[in-house]
Amino acid sequence: ETVEWEAASYDMGGHDTFMHKEISEQPDAVDRVLRGRIDDRFSTVHLGGLNLDPREARTIRRIKILGCGTSYHAGLIGAGLIESMARIPADAEPASEFRYRNPVVDPDTLYIAVSQSGETYDVLAAVQELKRKGARVLGVVNVVGSAIAREADGGVYVHAGPEVCVVSTKCFTNTVTAFALLALHLGRIRDLSVTDGKRIIEGLRRLPAQIEEILKGEDEIKRLAEEYAGAQSMMFIGRVRGYPVALEASLKLKEISYIHAEAYPASELKHGPLALIEPALPTVAIVPDDDLLEKNRAALEEIKARSGRILAVAHQVQEKADHTLVVPKNEDELDPILMGIPLQLFAYHTALAMGRDIDKPRNLAKSVTVE
Ligand code: AGP
Repeated sequence: ETVEWEAASYDMGGHDTFMHKEISEQPDAVDRVLRGRIDDRFSTVHLGGLNLDPREARTIRRIKILGCGTSYHAGLIGAGLIESMARIPADAEPASEFRYRNPVVDPDTLYIAVSQSGETYDVLAAVQELKRKGARVLGVVNVVGSAIAREADGGVYVHAGPEVCVVSTKCFTNTVTAFALLALHLGRIRDLSVTDGKRIIEGLRRLPAQIEEILKGEDEIKRLAEEYAGAQSMMFIGRVRGYPVALEASLKLKEISYIHAEAYPASELKHGPLALIEPALPTVAIVPDDDLLEKNRAALEEIKARSGRILAVAHQVQEKADHTLVVPKNEDELDPILMGIPLQLFAYHTALAMGRDIDKPRNLAKSVTVE
């Protein structure tokens, strides 16, 4: 499989930064990862390069996802998607941690390596170690023909197109979408019903227009970012599906604004971090309209009771929050794909207000090809 990218992909096309350009490209990028893969007749998706026949897919007992940084966060959401749609136990771990703890390599586990560049050394070394021990490893990779893509037994290309900015945005969104496709594919081979398959497919098809809608809210996000840009530190919270979104949003903010940020599961607040809450430490809360809505609202109340400022990303205005960024609702499983997007713009405008070098943050490289 080869994809030719024109030189135009490498110029800013009227944007001030590659990051802004890449955030704006997301409706098209998501459209691309879906294109040609949906099978309406069987309410499933076809993934040409997977190299995993249905009989083999049925024997998988566990899935382990490995990646670094943003790709690890995408893997965390991916694990949740696989568990909920395919009911296969799945989890994600930073690739380097995995590699150095002499992991038990189990023949019934499918390993999935996630990487934008396909060249991250820690991920590549984990793949090589796994293959040496006889494991089956798939890749969820952006760069076609990269080292990890070549080393894997098969996989899914995420087709985000070239990502130039050091911080990943569109590739994160496309990687999570690619995991939704993989989860649907595995789910439909196992126990996911035709009706649920159809529901997810319809949700996937709504994504590009919904992303477009979120991007239209940029002026409001910019105004809020300018308001919060004076903070020394920020807390990000989410629950279950929302927690990896909080992790990724906090990483984005740290990388380009250099504001200290922490991400916690909302349920862990009372086990320690609540001690930090005061007016000077704003909280960004991920509050989807799903079965955990009331639980998430309770966390907002706890923060408000300690006079903490709250910016919520939600499907409806949250009374306890000082500000709410309302995002369009999709299927519960697919909500994390959309909820991260306003926070990419939030990190962007915070960093811009602080005069940071957005495309080239200090101390970081686009791909870490050394140990
Ligand atoms: C993302 O914003 C990062 N700069 C970084 O965490 C990155 O995701 C990580 O280094 C992994 O890169 P990869 O996806 O190319 O393997």
